[in-house]
Amino acid sequence: MQIIMLGAPGAGKGTQAARIASKHTIPHISTGDIFRANIKEGTPLGVKAKSYMDKGELVPDELVCDLVSDRILKDDCTKGFILDGFPRTIPQAEALDKTMSENNMDALKCIDIEVPDGDIIGRMAGRRTCPVCNATYHIVNMPPKEEGKCDKCGMTLIQRDDDKEETVKNRLSVYHDQTAPLIDYYRKKGCLEEVDGTKSSDEVFASIEEILG
Ligand code: AP5
Ligand code: MG
Ligand code: ZN
Repeated sequence: MQIIMLGAPGAGKGTQAARIASKHTIPHISTGDIFRANIKEGTPLGVKAKSYMDKGELVPDELVCDLVSDRILKDDCTKGFILDGFPRTIPQAEALDKTMSENNMDALKCIDIEVPDGDIIGRMAGRRTCPVCNATYHIVNMPPKEEGKCDKCGMTLIQRDDDKEETVKNRLSVYHDQTAPLIDYYRKKGCLEEVDGTKSSDEVFASIEEILG
């Protein structure tokens, strides 16, 4: 089972990907999380990625495609994987197709979580994330059991640097220009599934589980 989570920033890709990965014991591969880990460690990739991420722009395709190709060929991906935040451009989708077809991976499902732009700003303003295990919360919609602390590992939760309102607006416009065309791309390939992301996290998860069968 190879799964792509598509959707605007804040649609709930990370929230749902973590649940699916844990239920089906397949790796959750988030390119955003990979970049943030590199930024934290101060790697050359992190330094390059940060300048784009801080502005809400996409990191160039050449810094992402090989990284994901290498990752999905690792041993833990033989049963499948779930990609969260990749692909985000047509060239990234083409690179993924190439790696998948060369390696006989043929059970792709692309799940598009649909949430209108108007709902996004509030979701981002209330989002808190764990800097260690990447768990995601929302101060109103999905609060942690103890305020400000991760349920899973106890770390102090933080706000992402790119969740400032101005940056979120730019991320949304980048999404519409560069990533939304992938909806048609996967529809034409016949593997697109759309879910209503405005429902509760449990309801969204139930719709996805129904699709995955
Ligand atoms: P990335 O980390 O992928 O960010 P994003 O796509 O902008 O998406 P988010 O993580 O912000 O949202 P999400 O859909 O995961 O929502 P979440 O579950 O957290 O990328 C960051 C940056 O890295 C990019 O801008 C780019 O610069 C770079 N990058 C990454 N990948 C790249 C690539 N392939 N190519 C180029 N550049 C790349 O939910 C959001 C909030 O809503 C949370 O607080 C959550 O608790 C809450 N929530 C979730 N579901 C619900 C619900 N059903 N009801 C109510 N609240 C909900
Ligand atoms: Mg995310
Ligand atoms: Zn944690």
